Amino acid sequence: MTVVLKAICASAILAIMVACGDAESGQGESQSPPVASSLPDGEDHSNHLADPVVAAADPAPAAPASPPSATAPAAEPASEPEPEPETDPRALTPGDGTIYAGVYTEAQAARGQAIQEVECVACHTPRDWAGGRLLTSFTGQSVSGLVEHIRSTMPLDGPGRLDYEQYVDIAARILQLNEIPAGSNELPADGNALSEIRIEFRR
Ligand code: HEC
Repeated sequence: MTVVLKAICASAILAIMVACGDAESGQGESQSPPVASSLPDGEDHSNHLADPVVAAADPAPAAPASPPSATAPAAEPASEPEPEPETDPRALTPGDGTIYAGVYTEAQAARGQAIQEVECVACHTPRDWAGGRLLTSFTGQSVSGLVEHIRSTMPLDGPGRLDYEQYVDIAARILQLNEIPAGSNELPADGNALSEIRIEFRR
């Protein structure tokens, strides 16, 4: 009897141990891999999700951003019409201290053209001083600065050979060639007064 009981007990204990061992190992294995896999998966997903979310968030705002810009044209046309009628940037702006204030006359520019056609034509065409390039390079300086630059360097074969008044007339011609609007006052042959007239070029 005791042997049988012992055998039963032993087998029962073994069975329990095996069962417990299987159960433990099985749970342990089944839990840890799922946990391990779920964590990486969770992390991967969260990472992937985070990126896609961000990436999706970018496209999403980008998409809303384009609709606003699509609606912005509605706002732009509203703002565009204002500047157009309000300011032709190249129109006369009396008293603004720039060459757009009507600072030379057509007659003065004609005198300057006549001087150019004698003194400068050997090396220059009018196109040399048109199109805004020269005025753009002198933007922020005064007409006095432009006149002094020309006077000190041109004509190349005799800088300063002309009268100061003639250089000023040439400056008027240069303004005309760049479609700066003429006015009713001539550029004065006075360096101090010319230093009060600021050069810029508006497109
Ligand atoms: C003998 C040839 C010659 C004559 C005459 C001459 N120039 Fe020039 N001019 C040049 C050359 C060459 C340059 C370019 C110099 C340089 O870039 O350093 C130049 C440059 C200039 C520039 C600068 C252009 C720029 O874009 O920076 C002006 C302005 C100018 N000349 C005005 C005149 C005027 C005004 C006259 C007539 C009074 C005149 N030149 C007569 C040869 C001449």
